[in-house]
Amino acid sequence: MLGSWNRIGLKAQFMMVTALNVAVTAIGVVILVGWFQSQQIEEKLHSFSVNELQSLHALVISAMNRRPGDTQNVAIGVFNDWFQGRNTDYPGKLWSVWGAKTTAYMKTQDSARPSKRPADAIDKEALRTGKPVGRFINGAYRYSLPIVFGVTRGADGKNCVMCHGQLMGEKKGGVIAVFSSSLSTAADFAALRRFLFLVLGCAIVAATAMMGVIWLVFERLVSRPLTMVTGAMTALARGEKLLHQKDEAIKYQSLITKESDHRLLNAMQMVAGLLSLQSKTSSNAETAGQLLIASNRVSMIARIHRRLNSLDGVQTVAFRTFLEEYCREFSEMLSLEEGAKRIVVADGVEIELPAATVVPLAFIVSELLTNAVKYSKGQIAIRLEADPEKGHLLSVSNSGSALPQGFDPDGSKGLGMKIISSFVKQIDGELRFGPADGNQGVQFTVLFS
Ligand SMILES: Nc1ncnc2c1ncn2[C@@H]1O[C@H](COP(=O)(O)OP(=O)(O)O)[C@@H](O)[C@H]1O
Ligand SMILES: [Mg+2]
Repeated sequence: MLGSWNRIGLKAQFMMVTALNVAVTAIGVVILVGWFQSQQIEEKLHSFSVNELQSLHALVISAMNRRPGDTQNVAIGVFNDWFQGRNTDYPGKLWSVWGAKTTAYMKTQDSARPSKRPADAIDKEALRTGKPVGRFINGAYRYSLPIVFGVTRGADGKNCVMCHGQLMGEKKGGVIAVFSSSLSTAADFAALRRFLFLVLGCAIVAATAMMGVIWLVFERLVSRPLTMVTGAMTALARGEKLLHQKDEAIKYQSLITKESDHRLLNAMQMVAGLLSLQSKTSSNAETAGQLLIASNRVSMIARIHRRLNSLDGVQTVAFRTFLEEYCREFSEMLSLEEGAKRIVVADGVEIELPAATVVPLAFIVSELLTNAVKYSKGQIAIRLEADPEKGHLLSVSNSGSALPQGFDPDGSKGLGMKIISSFVKQIDGELRFGPADGNQGVQFTVLFS
């Protein structure tokens, strides 16, 4: 039950609750109107009946005043004929009932004459209580007006006491007679029914129109925005799932990349190892030297590669930190070979450089350090500074002998200077060279932005 209620959706639920409300309200209105209208009908029929019987009563009083001298019973005749005449055009029926004492008395006078007996329970109630009785019964409005001896106006007169009191033995408070009226309610209630059907019809039309308006408002203010929100949430959820899938794909991709980088580095180390081995087995000293240089370059490439890889996907690199670590490694290698600590990174300012600039700079530094180690025995210093012209300045200097006379990096035969020149061009930098501070030794400076 609750399950199917939940299944039908918010809009249908809302409409059903509203419809129920409207139906209950419409039924309530019809019941209230019906009750009020039937009260009105009762009031109307009551006053109509009272009016008629009071009028009859007035006639009876005036007729009874004439009784003493009325030997021909004209007054009684007029009274009885009144019913016949009035009942032809009365919208119902009028009659009279004798009280117990009158009935008994009449029996003694004329036993053949039929007595006026109570017609129904209303007559009996009026006779018993001495109070007027009026109510709906069997499709009619019944009203009975008792004439009470010594109480009802006109039933306390001289003539009355003489006849009903002394002759018939009526006591004060005893009911002499009952005047009765019965009015058909069929027409009134048919009209009421028609009216109620009209009200119900109007209520249904109004309710249907109202439901239509509510439906439209719900559609516009609640249902449509809700559908949109639901749609947006579904799309978001779908997007989140796609993002999750993308994340997974990226994770997988980076795993694969790391794996292949790892293999590449191992392969490079292997090549460096092979070249070094070959240099040792070579009988020609020059070839052996070249092979060793080649081996060092390959392992240097591998080192730079590994260092950049350890930075793992970053777009920029803190270059001074990078240099410090690189130089420490280089110094350790060197001290293993020469037993001396020679490279110092000094006066560095930290700068963030794109990885694409760091790779060529690392190669340049490597070549410059190699030369400084090769051509001098003294201290080597690397400095990273801000340059007002180009932006940044990287210098490698060493003490010891100066550069050869007429030194031209582009005209140099060695591979080292060629590599340096080519990478300086690649980063759109500028290479300067000359004696170091104190006008001795050598200093190479790379300016770049
Ligand atoms: N720090 C330095 N001190 C003295 N001379 C240098 C220095 N760096 C380079 N040179 C000179 O520049 C030349 C070219 O260097 P390079 O191209 O690296 O070739 P290689 O190192 O094989 O000699 C060297 O032969 C050397 O004469
Ligand atoms: Mg060299």
